[in-house]
Amino acid sequence: MSDFTSNFWALYVAGITLVSILACLVLLVVTGKMSPSTAADNTTGHVWDGDLREMNNPLPRWWSYMFVFTIVFSLIYLVLYPGLGAVQGTLGWSSAKLHADEVAKGNAETAPIYAKFTTMTPEELSKDPKAMAIGERLYSNNCAQCHASDARGNKGFPNLTDGDWLHGGTPDKIKETIVGGRIGNMPPMAAAVGSPEDVKGVAQYVLSLSGSPHDAALAEKGKEKFVVCAACHGVDGKGMQAVGSANLTDNIWLHGFGEKTIIDMINNGKVNVMPAQASKLTEAQIHVVTGYIWGMSNK
Ligand code: HEC
Ligand code: HEC
Repeated sequence: MSDFTSNFWALYVAGITLVSILACLVLLVVTGKMSPSTAADNTTGHVWDGDLREMNNPLPRWWSYMFVFTIVFSLIYLVLYPGLGAVQGTLGWSSAKLHADEVAKGNAETAPIYAKFTTMTPEELSKDPKAMAIGERLYSNNCAQCHASDARGNKGFPNLTDGDWLHGGTPDKIKETIVGGRIGNMPPMAAAVGSPEDVKGVAQYVLSLSGSPHDAALAEKGKEKFVVCAACHGVDGKGMQAVGSANLTDNIWLHGFGEKTIIDMINNGKVNVMPAQASKLTEAQIHVVTGYIWGMSNK
């Protein structure tokens, strides 16, 4: 309850909570005091099924006490636990803390299992069936939602099994990617290239780099303009792992194939983010998953 953007909402929620509890109490007292509009024989005048008459008897005492008890219970609860706007509660309990404690407990319990793995290199890990079984689990829980369950990726999410790397495929580079995340950033390039015709030419030249079907005359013209791309993709178009630029010669297309896709890429650029995992996984877990990923592309 500490995520409110302004104090107003915390007070608003706390106010509604307290007023509701108070209203329950008032309801009990007022209805207890009200004199019922009943006939002399203590019936309300409601009749069902011919002769079933509704009486107007007071609530049983135990029922009223229960009602009061729920009100007292909720007030004590709100003192002890978070629930009243931004008030933390005197016990200091929070779901986030509970989660963090359980994760810490789980990590402490599994530490002995990982102890052996941290002394092994990722290459060695990739040949250890037990480490790979754990690596696969870690992968399914933390990576599969983006890189697909078979790690072959998807549009925008790189295939991790094909030996084609934006940021490098050595164990060190893979670990660096997992720990700190990566941002693939290609700025919009249309202005630097020139007219839409020039952009089309560069796109045709890019297609020619991988031996894909292309218009040779247009590609020849586009080649001159490719100098503005060479800064990141290299003069030969093979990409530079230091900037995470794609290899344009290998016929592997992270963002899709074809002239239209490449033109879109040149016109709009692309920011593609791999989130850092250091805060989610322990060092030992990252070590094991690094071995798992390295092993997938080095079978
Ligand atoms: C929210 C989606 C997402 C999650 C979760 C995710 N990744 Fe990624 N990952 C990406 C994207 C997007 C890229 C491409 C970044 C770029 O274009 O530069 C990437 C890139 C990578 C790369 C670099 C690939 C290359 O060609 O250099 C590796 C290795 C990798 N991820 C491993 C993992 C592992 C291991 C996990 C789980 C611990 C994981 N990723 C979780 C989205 C994700
Ligand atoms: C400032 C660096 C930079 C420049 C300049 C640049 N790019 Fe890129 N380009 C990148 C990066 C980084 C990626 C990878 C994006 C990602 O991580 O998803 C990329 C990706 C691409 C892709 C997608 C490849 C695929 O596998 O889907 C194409 C196509 C492309 N660039 C073409 C070009 C062309 C053509 C030019 C010149 C007009 C150009 N780029 C200029 C950095 C650059």
